[in-house]
Amino acid sequence: MFSPQRTMGQYTTPKETVHYMTRKLLSELPTKSNMKILDPATGDGIFIHTLLEEGLSAENLYAFDIDRNTAAPHPEIHFHYADFLKVDQPGQYDAIIGNPPYKSKRQSPYFSKNREIIQRDFGKVGIHNLYSLFIHKGIQCLKPGGVMTMIVQDSFLTNIYYKSFREFLLKETEIKEIILAPRRLFHKGKADVRTAIITLKKKGTGAVTSSQMRLVDRLNEQNYDHPPADHIQYLSQQAYEQMPARNFAINVPEDILTHFEGSYRNLGNVLKGGTGISTGDDRSFLRSFKDGHVPPEWIPFYKNGGRKDAWYYEPKYYIHKNWPDYVEKNTNFTVRNRSYFYQKGITCSSMGVDFSAALLPEGSLFGVNANLFPEQEEDLYYFLSLLNSKLMKYMVRKVLNRTNMITSGYIKKIPYIEPDPLQKQVMIEIARSIVEKKKENPSFQTDEWQSLVDQTVYEIYNISNSSRSKVHDFCHDIMEKI
Ligand SMILES: C[S@@+](CC[C@H](N)C(=O)[O-])C[C@H]1O[C@@H](n2cnc3c(N)ncnc32)[C@H](O)[C@@H]1O
Repeated sequence: MFSPQRTMGQYTTPKETVHYMTRKLLSELPTKSNMKILDPATGDGIFIHTLLEEGLSAENLYAFDIDRNTAAPHPEIHFHYADFLKVDQPGQYDAIIGNPPYKSKRQSPYFSKNREIIQRDFGKVGIHNLYSLFIHKGIQCLKPGGVMTMIVQDSFLTNIYYKSFREFLLKETEIKEIILAPRRLFHKGKADVRTAIITLKKKGTGAVTSSQMRLVDRLNEQNYDHPPADHIQYLSQQAYEQMPARNFAINVPEDILTHFEGSYRNLGNVLKGGTGISTGDDRSFLRSFKDGHVPPEWIPFYKNGGRKDAWYYEPKYYIHKNWPDYVEKNTNFTVRNRSYFYQKGITCSSMGVDFSAALLPEGSLFGVNANLFPEQEEDLYYFLSLLNSKLMKYMVRKVLNRTNMITSGYIKKIPYIEPDPLQKQVMIEIARSIVEKKKENPSFQTDEWQSLVDQTVYEIYNISNSSRSKVHDFCHDIMEKI
């Protein structure tokens, strides 16, 4: 019954998840009889088997797989070896269910082999990953009012590349539910991938019912029906239409979400800056001096501070003062925002689970991470405190970008609220003191001051106690919670 791939441990959707998805799909359909249901990437046919167990009749079930080694899941269903992305069946199905392949442009030769046809059929909505093409195609293949439940990689929720895809979903469908599936769902196989189960209904010709989306935060187990109460949120789809880049935030409290609505004031409006030098080959161009003796012709170079580097850290890398000579000789050596070079500022982390910000000392250069240059020295310390608060970490990693790559574009989207003078003073003094202490002792413990910063930022942004505890929970274990 199971394909060699499955026996070999390649990943396939776990049974409990398939059962939930099947029940969810059927609950959104008006009836079980005479519903044309498709699994477009059937593999070992686990969705088809489950639909049959649920009493669906084989003659109404359809499945595709591109792999010729795939056996028909059942002799009486309509099974075809076919590339689903190339089938021409608009408006044919009442329901679509499945687990499509997750392969990015870099991971699959499919994209280059089929460049023209993909560009023609999917170009407008964006071509990034096979799973998003499957959803796009699936929506076209649904009848108006048809329903789809898919488990896919969750990168479409916030990544800027998927902005048009999210707009497409909002325009063409009613989103019924998004669940962040357990993080290790596919760990028994080889895939280490974060996934979400999305259920949506293709908009019909009639008026859209103003139903609420059921949004479920990252689960520890496959308890999709009865997740912990604080993991569930009901939200109107219009809330997503108000978000920057139409981000799909999951279970973010409304008093935090409202800060992102419409044309809100953000850090990009009050702070200048961006990325600096991309050497194209850090190993060749950057150096570290472990013994602490730095020859005078080497300039501090900041590129990605870690969690322990928040507030202040000694430079880890240096670049030679003759770096301008490299620009002409190396095409990959690119330089942006030259006017900020050597200025005192803030340097943010760019990669890694935790987001943090540190002082960028005068006379330094910086890499492709985000670097910010407030006009007043006082503001610099204010923003240093602000960016190291838990609320900002939450806004960056939970709302603006769930991936580990934080570029300045995302940071500039952080909402800005003017603090009152006293709040601002508190934040400035804390940042100055921590920087001084960390200069003397890099492992200085900042915990007490950190909680005062957190509290002040919650007050500035008017965040309720229950939302504060959600932020704390998330920041306590971002890797697991995201
Ligand atoms: C992640 S597996 C899912 C298998 C199964 N649905 C499950 O959940 O256990 C994806 C399946 O999609 C198939 N596939 C990949 N590209 C396809 C395409 N363009 N059209 C149809 N099937 C495709 C693969 O052969 C594989 O069986």
